[in-house]
Amino acid sequence: MTAILNGSPALGEFDGVSLDMLIRQGFRPVPVSGVEALTPEVLGIELTPAEATAGLVPGSHIEVAVPLPEGPAIRHYSLVAGPAETLRIAVLREDRGRGGSAWLHEHLASCTSLLIRGPRDTFGYRGVGPVFFVAGGIGITPVTAMIAAAASAGDDWHLLYIGRRQESMAFAEVLLAEHGPERVSVHITEAAGRPDAAAAVREWAAGRGGETTVYVCGPVPLMRSLETGLADDPAIAVISEDFDDAADTSANVRERTGRGTVASASAPIAGAQGEDEAFVVELGDGSEVDVPAGCSIIEALGRAGVRTLSSCQKGTCGTCETVILDGQADHRDSVLSAEEHAAQETMMICVSRACGTRIALDL
Ligand code: FES
Repeated sequence: MTAILNGSPALGEFDGVSLDMLIRQGFRPVPVSGVEALTPEVLGIELTPAEATAGLVPGSHIEVAVPLPEGPAIRHYSLVAGPAETLRIAVLREDRGRGGSAWLHEHLASCTSLLIRGPRDTFGYRGVGPVFFVAGGIGITPVTAMIAAAASAGDDWHLLYIGRRQESMAFAEVLLAEHGPERVSVHITEAAGRPDAAAAVREWAAGRGGETTVYVCGPVPLMRSLETGLADDPAIAVISEDFDDAADTSANVRERTGRGTVASASAPIAGAQGEDEAFVVELGDGSEVDVPAGCSIIEALGRAGVRTLSSCQKGTCGTCETVILDGQADHRDSVLSAEEHAAQETMMICVSRACGTRIALDL
């Protein structure tokens, strides 16, 4: 059946239980006001929320609920630069992914709204120049918003935009037209091979005063090459955000794996992890679920018929964040900061466990 919420828009084919859970977890329907094929592989989607969108941190993303046959799937999409009253995303179709991007490409035409949560910022754009942006493929999406902020602030910035083919680079033409080749370098690997991105950064940063910040978003090898290639330069800080090739994916299902030199506080607490021990999760209705050693809370809940939301299943995206009602978590995620871990208010139930034998969760 096609779910109709409050007699209004078609959201896709969620069953009633899933829809209830999504709404309870903070998802809301937002009208789709525009759909455009940016390239044959990249779909541009414009949403028009009722609430104000001005003042969003550049690099923020939203979570989109997609009704796959096996249940709701949550996908993360960065916000692209655009008019203040809209939320714009760009979805790369990934036929070898987990099905979320393919569903959006095939079914969005029949939806007048999408169920979304957010926006949320995890990239940590600091807004101080000089700034060197590096974007690989669909990793350009959050970078467009950061560039808009840097340009309007009059910062000194440059973009290295890397893609396999010109036609797969949805924003190359518009960025070049708007900012010119002094600001925007487009590198096509099919024609020119892999670029030495670290060398490009060093060359640009040489002679500029103060610290250069590098924001990189794209495939893991690109991100790692910059982190390691620039690690010995105290005048260059690298902040990165990658995609997970195993996820749905090379689209902008984004997984936060730490943010270079700036966001190392989001690593799990050292020493908090030990051998897995069995424990009991108490649910909001007072029922209990046993979580054996070697089994995640999400897995145990699923076996017990309790539905939860998840995406990465690796503690890197934040989708499964759950409120702790009583007890302490053994945090094993890389989403929450060290302060948030210490506060013991929420936990990522795909990877984190209980300290001790019981924990009560708002489920
Ligand atoms: S599902 Fe991504 S952090 Fe748990």
